[in-house]
Amino acid sequence: MILYNLGMPVNSVSPVTVFAGKGGVGKTTCAAAAALHSAWQGRKTLAISTDATPSLAHIFDEPPHPGPVQVESNLYFQEIGIREARQLWEDRFGRDVYQVFSSFIDLPYADFTEFMSSVLPGLAEEFMVDYIRELCQKGEYDAVVWDTAPLGQTLALLETPSLLGSHLRLAPRIYTHLRAGADTKESILAIIRRWESLSAVDMEFLRSGVDFNIVVIAEALAVNQLEGILAEMDRYGFRVSRLIINNLARDDGSGFLHERSAQQRSYLEMINQRYKGRKITAVPMLPHEIKGLDRIREIETLLFG
Ligand SMILES: Nc1ncnc2c1ncn2[C@@H]1O[C@H](COP(=O)(O)OP(=O)(O)O)[C@@H](O)[C@H]1O
Ligand SMILES: [Mg+2]
Repeated sequence: MILYNLGMPVNSVSPVTVFAGKGGVGKTTCAAAAALHSAWQGRKTLAISTDATPSLAHIFDEPPHPGPVQVESNLYFQEIGIREARQLWEDRFGRDVYQVFSSFIDLPYADFTEFMSSVLPGLAEEFMVDYIRELCQKGEYDAVVWDTAPLGQTLALLETPSLLGSHLRLAPRIYTHLRAGADTKESILAIIRRWESLSAVDMEFLRSGVDFNIVVIAEALAVNQLEGILAEMDRYGFRVSRLIINNLARDDGSGFLHERSAQQRSYLEMINQRYKGRKITAVPMLPHEIKGLDRIREIETLLFG
């Protein structure tokens, strides 16, 4: 079976398109438009958000619901909040990791999960990556559009198990002989290795199954940060297929917008210069709030022509 990743044929069951970038730049708007585009091309499409403050329900003009919620015949959305993700993580990995830690420190399980999520604030995101990977493997949807993928600190956190593992390997004689608990035959190192390999699988999914779109606005800070984001994506081996420069002011001759758009144009030119080989899409700022399918369609046209 050949599936299509927003127009690109791919030979896997995990065609995921991601919209990443700083808060407020238009990730959710672009994700909703891309999902609509995909659905209209006849693919059963899920728009999924892992944002702590999700807004897919708002933009689709639907009541908030953990979902998946059907918006149109081919279009669904789902919002995984930080609480749901943490719960899912705890159910699936929490006990294992607790076994590791409880062999060093005497801590009740509830305090442990509280402790873990305070020292590793990106832990829930690790689960989210895993959740989306599994969702794609099930192949229930022909396309998945992911609003807000982890970047920066969170990606580094995905590698935490491996750091933990290499630290513990420094004292193999002690740790390999520790058992994680009376009711398990697994050594601590084996549990860590399992956790490590899961993280490796999730990172590999981000590398090979996910198509990244970076959304930015035409401002000095954003343009400077773009360099760092792209370098980071490269370092992890992630595929960035498109840069979206959103919210460009239209020069209507008024003094205010004339100046604003001239300034943005200079940054847009800078981006076009710097990233010549890349696909760059400029999206104007619309005069109205983007909410509901008719408005999303306007963005869809701007993004996909
Ligand atoms: N091209 C645009 N024209 C007009 N308003 C926009 C545009 N892109 C985004 N917005 C508005 O900007 C706000 C933030 O967009 P959103 O997609 O929620 O950003 P993010 O998900 O990156 O935080 C929303 O109110 C949205 O309607
Ligand atoms: Mg958003």
